[in-house]
Amino acid sequence: MPRAKILIVEDENLVARDLLNMVKTLGYEVTDVVQTGEVALKGLSHKPPDLALMDIVLKGNVDGISVASVLWEEYSIPVVYITSFADDVTFERAKMTEPFGYLLKPFEERELELTIETALYKARMLLLLKEKEQWLSTILRSIGDGIIAINRERRISFINPVAEKLTGWSEREAIGQPLNQVFRLKEMPSPNRASTFSEPYENILLSKEGLETLIEQTVTPLPEDKGRGMGEVIVFRDISARKKVEKELQESWARLHRTLQGTIQAISTTIEMRDPYTAGHQRRVAFLAEAIANELKLPEFQVEGIRFAAQIHDIGKIYVPAEILSKPTKLTDLEYTIIKTHPQAGYEILKNIEFPWPIGLIVLQHHERIDGSGYPNGLKDGEILLEAKILSVADVVEAMSSHRPYRPSFGIGKALEEVQIKKGILYDSQVVEACLKIFSEKRFSFD
Ligand SMILES: [Fe+2]
Ligand SMILES: [Fe+2]
Repeated sequence: MPRAKILIVEDENLVARDLLNMVKTLGYEVTDVVQTGEVALKGLSHKPPDLALMDIVLKGNVDGISVASVLWEEYSIPVVYITSFADDVTFERAKMTEPFGYLLKPFEERELELTIETALYKARMLLLLKEKEQWLSTILRSIGDGIIAINRERRISFINPVAEKLTGWSEREAIGQPLNQVFRLKEMPSPNRASTFSEPYENILLSKEGLETLIEQTVTPLPEDKGRGMGEVIVFRDISARKKVEKELQESWARLHRTLQGTIQAISTTIEMRDPYTAGHQRRVAFLAEAIANELKLPEFQVEGIRFAAQIHDIGKIYVPAEILSKPTKLTDLEYTIIKTHPQAGYEILKNIEFPWPIGLIVLQHHERIDGSGYPNGLKDGEILLEAKILSVADVVEAMSSHRPYRPSFGIGKALEEVQIKKGILYDSQVVEACLKIFSEKRFSFD
C-alpha cells in the first residue's frame, strides 16, 4: 500500500523543517508545508492530503483547531496536533474537533509514525461508519412504513417522513420527545401485549391535529448493550385502505353465499315439485348429513359443502319419467335401471358449475357402497369421497324411515338397524357410528 500523503501546517520554520525530514524519512509523501491555516485550506483542491500534521497555535487569523474542524468536516481529512504546550483550555477545544491524536514536542520518529497510522485508521473507520449510517438512514427514510426509534429513556431518537406525516410531528419537533407524546394511541396496549414484541397488532393512532388513523404496528427491541436495553424501534403502517377492501370482500362473499344458498334451494324445490312423493326428502337428508358431519367434527366449510350437495343430490331424477318416480307398485328391472342413471345425470348437470366444493362428485357417488356393490361406477371404500359416504348413510336412513308410493315407512328404528348391520360392508363404520350416536344420544329427529 502506498504511504499516506501528509500536509504540514507549522509556522516555526525550524520545527517545520525537522518535521518534514522526519515525515520523509518515515516514507510518507509530503504534499506541502505551509505556515497558516488560510494557506492550508487554499491549497487543498490541487494537492489533497490524507492527513494533516498541525500546530495548534498558528499565526494568522485562524488557529489550528478551527482549521482542523474544517479539514475533517468538509474534506474528511484527519488532523494530528503538534504542540509544545497543552494548556487545559486549548486541549479541551482541541478535543471538541474530532481528536485523531496529538504529539507533544519533542517526540521520536517512531512515536510520530504510530500517531499518524492510528489517526489514519481511526479516520477510515469513522468514514466507513458514517457511510453506513447514511446508507441506513436513506433506506429508513425512503421506506413506505412509519418508523420511530426510541432510546432507553423512551424518548424519540429517529423518525422517518412517513411517521412524521402520520403523527403530524416534524422530525425537528419530535426528536427528544417522550414516545407517548408523539405516538399517541387510542387504546394503550396492555402490559402483557406490549411485552410480546414483533407480533403486529392493530390500533388507532391519534395525530397532533387529532386525526385518527387505523394502523398496524410492530415493536422490536434494539440489541442490548452490556445488559442494558438500548431502546425500541416501532414500525407502523396505515391499514385503513386494506381494512376497507377486506370488509368489501367479506360483504361480497356473504352476498355470493346468499345467492348460492338461494339457487340451491330453488333447484331443490324444482326437483321436489316434479316428484311429490320424495318432496322434502333432500331437505331432510341435508339436515341429517349436516348433523353427521358435525358429529365427525369436520371443518365448517366442508360441512357446508355436504349440506349443499345433499340438498340437490337427486337432481338427476329430472331425467326419470314422472310415472316411474310415482309408480305405486314394484319397479320392473328396466324401470330400476332408468332410476339408477340419476347420479350420473346429476353429475352431468352440476360438473361445470364452479362450486367451492366438489358438489358434482359427491352427487355422482351418493349411491356407491364401500364394498364396490353400489352404482354407477362400483367404487370401493378408498375411492369414495367422505362427503359421499356421509350423504349415502343419511339418504338411506331418511328413505327407509319415510313413506314411498310403493311401500309404507319402515320406521326410524328399522332404518338405523339396517345401517348398523351393513356397517363396514356397505357403509363407512365411522359415519354409521356418528349417525347412530346423534339419534341415540343427541335425540336427533327429522322434524
Ligand atoms: Fe339418490
Ligand atoms: Fe336420495
